[in-house]
Amino acid sequence: GKYRVISTKPMPGTRWIRLLTDQNCRVEICTQKKTILSVEDILTLIGDKCDGVIGQLTEDWGEVLFSALSKAGGKAFSNMAVGYNNVDVDAATKYGVAVGNTPGVLTETTAELAASLSLAASRRIVEADEFMRAGLYDGWLPHLFVGNLLKGQTVGVIGAGRIGSAYARMMIEGFKMNLIYFDLYQATRLEKFVTAYGQFLKSNGEEPVTWKRASSMQEVLREADVISLHPILDKTTYHLINKDSLAIMKKEAILVNCSRGPVVDEVALVEHLKENPMFRVGLDVFEDEPFMKPGLRDMKNAVVVPHIASASKWTREGMATLAALNVLGKIKGYPLWSNPNQVEPFLDENSPPPA
Ligand code: GLV
Ligand code: GLV
Repeated sequence: GKYRVISTKPMPGTRWIRLLTDQNCRVEICTQKKTILSVEDILTLIGDKCDGVIGQLTEDWGEVLFSALSKAGGKAFSNMAVGYNNVDVDAATKYGVAVGNTPGVLTETTAELAASLSLAASRRIVEADEFMRAGLYDGWLPHLFVGNLLKGQTVGVIGAGRIGSAYARMMIEGFKMNLIYFDLYQATRLEKFVTAYGQFLKSNGEEPVTWKRASSMQEVLREADVISLHPILDKTTYHLINKDSLAIMKKEAILVNCSRGPVVDEVALVEHLKENPMFRVGLDVFEDEPFMKPGLRDMKNAVVVPHIASASKWTREGMATLAALNVLGKIKGYPLWSNPNQVEPFLDENSPPPA
């Protein structure tokens, strides 16, 4: 018989479906109208025979689902996401289900959204757009929507993995910003890039850009003008940005989050935005999606978008394809194309951050 593969959501493109159907799989796509499926909804989908599932980051993949999938003969689960904080990998392992994620294809797309939010915040694009639409523009003025110049300022990257490094390069090359970053691992290629680009600028008679690897996250928070968060979410990064970390940032700093909402204490952030009108944020993710903490939606100094960092057509089709390949490969007896074990931890609990 055919392998039964479930996708809990319709996904962009058709290539991922063909990949599976060409290889003796029957693909069932859940078309339920509700946006977020519950554990019970997914249990019903799995039924008593299911070889693999492609799921979404909004779903809670833990003990209950992995034991059911295993009982149904399931070998593989792939998140259609690079982040996998919604997946209990230990539970999956316990029930013999391999777990996949979809890195790589979303690196540039996500970095581009972080760059967009950085610019939107620094140049107050959304506020200015609202002003125009409200019919308030009655003539050019020297102080109308004055924002920050990025050139020559310092971009701070917290978590310099694939996405953080791609974002850093965009901001450095595009806007001639200096870099300060914090990561457990040295971002050697990024450092080399900044050095080479700095030399190029210098040979052009321009001010060179510089880089610095911070010895603590606090150093980044104190020194950077624009700070973008790119760690994974785990217990070491929960509320990484809180009241204390916000307090040491520059009063006119810009904070961007395209990682996971709980990396930022959103209640503390709202308080900080209220007390510091020149401090601005660009947020793609929220602590209790789809909700925002009280007060956030009224803050003019916040730009908010609904978790769309990986939302380009090419990337979303690529994520769907990679998720399908993960599941297909495992069913066919190959190793996963990509799995969370390849994701580097942000902070190693057993060894202190680099001094
Ligand atoms: C999206 O948030 C992802 O992790 O891919
Ligand atoms: C602004 O529009 C200028 O011309 O300086």
